[in-house]
Amino acid sequence: MKPEDVKIIIADESHISYVDTILSTIEAAAKVRGTGIAKRDPEYVKKKIREGKAVIALYGDEFAGFSYIETWGNKEYVTTSGLIVPEKFRGMGLARRIKHQTFSLARKRWPEAKIFSLTSGAAVMKLNTALGYLPVTFADLTDDEDFWKGCQGCVNYDVLQRTGRRYCICTGMLFDPKQKMCTDAAKRELKSEKKSFWKRIFSNKD
Ligand SMILES: CC(C)(COP(=O)(O)OP(=O)(O)OC[C@H]1O[C@@H](n2cnc3c(N)ncnc32)[C@H](O)[C@@H]1OP(=O)(O)O)[C@@H](O)C(=O)NCCC(=O)NCCS
Repeated sequence: MKPEDVKIIIADESHISYVDTILSTIEAAAKVRGTGIAKRDPEYVKKKIREGKAVIALYGDEFAGFSYIETWGNKEYVTTSGLIVPEKFRGMGLARRIKHQTFSLARKRWPEAKIFSLTSGAAVMKLNTALGYLPVTFADLTDDEDFWKGCQGCVNYDVLQRTGRRYCICTGMLFDPKQKMCTDAAKRELKSEKKSFWKRIFSNKD
């Protein structure tokens, strides 16, 4: 199997049938990692797909990866979430390609929004860093209660509660479109993509 045989596309109605597989793959991976996860309702994921906010990777008809985006705090912030690549497809750069797509989607739809990530995963930290995210304290993230409710399913939720939502096991990382350092890094990272791909992400003045 070659990486280029896997397509990474914006998911649509025709991919709703993959939702159960997506969720069971995320759940199984969280068990292996010993982490909690923001429990996702199938209807919620279907909604993301129907709204054009999800990216799916397919090898033929076989599920090879997924992630979606969501806005918080009156669209001031965006997250890319639920990144998953089944074991069989790992280590061939699919997560990087999926992340490029979700990042691009977020930049295109909400160019003024800050993009953030709350993660304990080394791979995700690497991908975020390459795209210009910087580590921040939780005070720099959204105060949207609905976002933080997502942490309730995590095994470490008590830590978050104990610290008054100031610290936890996860690292907060933020891409601020107003910081040149961030946009320069993203441009460097996305240079490997076709020109048409990354050009549409940034406004002309950048
Ligand atoms: C994390 C995950 C999405 C990575 O998928 P993948 O397709 O294998 O990742 P890629 O091949 O695109 O690798 C991207 C980068 O992450 C690094 N990486 C991948 N897995 C890693 C790991 N377990 N630990 C540290 N770095 C890792 C790769 O080396 C690569 O960096 P490089 O280009 O500098 O070498 C996949 O392992 C997975 O689904 N895990 C379970 C779910 C999960 O942890 N999701 C993240 C939630 S925060």
